[in-house]
Amino acid sequence: MINGERVIENPIRWAMIGGGRGSQIGYIHRSSATRDRNFMLVAGAFDIDPERGKEFGVNIGVDAERCYPDYQTMFQEEAKREDGIQAVSIATPNGTHYEISRAALMAGLHVICEKPLCFEADQARELEDLAREKKLVFGVTYGYTGHQMVQQAKEMVARGDLGKIRIVQMQFAHGGCNIATEANNAAQKWRTDPKIAGPSFILGDVGTHALYLGELICPELEIESLLCTKQSFVEGRQLEDNAFVLLNYKDGAKGTLWASGVNCGSMHGQKIRVIGEKASIEWWNERPNQLRYEVQGEPACVMERGTDYLYGEALEEDRIGGGHVEGLFESWSNLYRRFAIAMDAANRKDYEFLKDFWYPNVHDGARGVKFIEKCVESADEGSVWVDYEK
Ligand code: NAI
Repeated sequence: MINGERVIENPIRWAMIGGGRGSQIGYIHRSSATRDRNFMLVAGAFDIDPERGKEFGVNIGVDAERCYPDYQTMFQEEAKREDGIQAVSIATPNGTHYEISRAALMAGLHVICEKPLCFEADQARELEDLAREKKLVFGVTYGYTGHQMVQQAKEMVARGDLGKIRIVQMQFAHGGCNIATEANNAAQKWRTDPKIAGPSFILGDVGTHALYLGELICPELEIESLLCTKQSFVEGRQLEDNAFVLLNYKDGAKGTLWASGVNCGSMHGQKIRVIGEKASIEWWNERPNQLRYEVQGEPACVMERGTDYLYGEALEEDRIGGGHVEGLFESWSNLYRRFAIAMDAANRKDYEFLKDFWYPNVHDGARGVKFIEKCVESADEGSVWVDYEK
């Protein structure tokens, strides 16, 4: 159970790049990082507009002299201080992730980066290699995976409660982009601009979350080949707003992934159903405290967060006990707590501990980038099967 007592000796001195006023995702980063006092927000380059970024930084309690006009200046200036930053979170549009992450690693900083990690599998590999070489922690904010019922799902699969896994159905299909929202919304505009969003819109924006959820719950499944069809239903939109992917796994299991922004009436629609030879489980991010468990031939049951019948791994990050609703902010806080524990271990050179300690990392981010690349390749060639290893 998490009760706010410290888990590391000294809070990590932390900065943010992006996530400024009006951004969608900045606040949940700050709220989750600082919640258990494992991170201290001491600096930032919060905005593409330096003046607005400085004003914002001061308003959220950062010293004016440590609100920087850009990340390059921040890395240079902070390196001169004895109490300089140790870690940075990157919450800027996709097109900047690679260069900022790379610069942060070169500056000797631990990194937490938004998904999708970057545009190309080669860039992702480079970041992965650099983090390993420099012995730095590199987390990726697949923010839904800190939910406790996701940990329960993972344990149930690992312990064989479902039997051998046959089918994984993944989806993140919302209706929020059913019209040209990009016309009046800056955050939506960059998401559909290939120069800033990369080679995909909806697959990168939400499909990577669905993929990672599947990979986390079923780590034994390795993709052998995939087929993707993608399209844009909204006229004039440059990148796809809907995609279907079929997956062959190496052991004969099959998967499907649906990523969409035009699923009218659906708020988020991120669901995963894992089907084994004896039973299935199903989790939905809009009801994160519940997990359906359906054994063939028995009445279906709904498992609840915070209850004694769950596996220990699903109770470790309980903050208030069953019956009370925990949500996305708790899920993110659990992940940020893990990022801090990992960074602290790396700072103490306890690499043995890090070998078995789970958090969504740069390798998980890199797999998301490869997935997008392969989906685009398949779709562009007329929706053909593509070999995943090549
Ligand atoms: P946004 O467009 O709402 O905000 C971007 C922020 O970054 C703004 O404050 C902007 O001024 C700032 N910025 C842009 N370029 C910058 C630069 N070079 N230096 C400093 N600041 C800069 O974008 P949003 O929706 O917050 O998305 C940001 C990232 O987070 C994206 O990669 C997106 O895919 C990801 N995201 C992840 C989610 C998750 O669940 N993990 C959910 C939503 C977004």
